[in-house]
Amino acid sequence: MPDTTGGHPAALKVVTLDGPAGVGKTTLARRVADALGIPYLDTGAMFRTMAWRLGPDGPDLDEALLRDRLAGFIFTLRGRGGASVLSCNGEDIGNEIRTEEVGAMASRIAALPVVRECLKAAQQRMGAAQPLVVEGRDMGTVVFPGARHKFFLDAAPEIRAMRRYTQLQTMGEAHDLALLTEQIRSRDEQDRNRAVAPLCPAADAIIVDTGNLDIDGVFGVIMQHIRSRDGL
Ligand code: DC
Repeated sequence: MPDTTGGHPAALKVVTLDGPAGVGKTTLARRVADALGIPYLDTGAMFRTMAWRLGPDGPDLDEALLRDRLAGFIFTLRGRGGASVLSCNGEDIGNEIRTEEVGAMASRIAALPVVRECLKAAQQRMGAAQPLVVEGRDMGTVVFPGARHKFFLDAAPEIRAMRRYTQLQTMGEAHDLALLTEQIRSRDEQDRNRAVAPLCPAADAIIVDTGNLDIDGVFGVIMQHIRSRDGL
């Protein structure tokens, strides 16, 4: 396994952004990566891609068979900042994984230790090869415990659902606010309560309550912390 601490826990050139669904991690990861001129990695997209490609029977596959299938997924990252592109087996990951249904499937397979083990190794390889902004659920706690900067973003489920509702409306998609709130709550429940790598802040993470802040405000807080500690 690659050394993710370089022997100096604080030396790993990685910024971790963890938090629940719909808190704005992807938008922020892109902006922070742009500001630092380095790639960003959306680890939720890796779980979503696996869930999408394995299909609805994925979580019920026999462990050995699942391990075999997972070994066939090779992720690569190119570009930097907002132009970072993640691909799987040479194909760029597209919008087909961006539905709430695929999010729920991803959350299910993400509870399986064999899936987490496999993705953790791939994520650590990418973080050992280049400086990174990574976003997910367990980046600061499990995958990059030696990251130089760790942030945990949070907001009440109602606030996250309302933001998602407004975003969908702007895209011309009608959605039911009560249903969105319910979907967010149930994903929270699954991600926070699983036995392996549950969603929780690292002991040394800066916790940012995004409830009263817009994206610019959260971005400002993150960059101020990074700069106050001499950047990356
Ligand atoms: O961030 P997202 O909504 O795209 O993530 C989809 C699901 O993947 C999420 O509900 C839980 C899982 N996930 C995870 O368990 N660990 C990560 N580091 C990232 C995502």
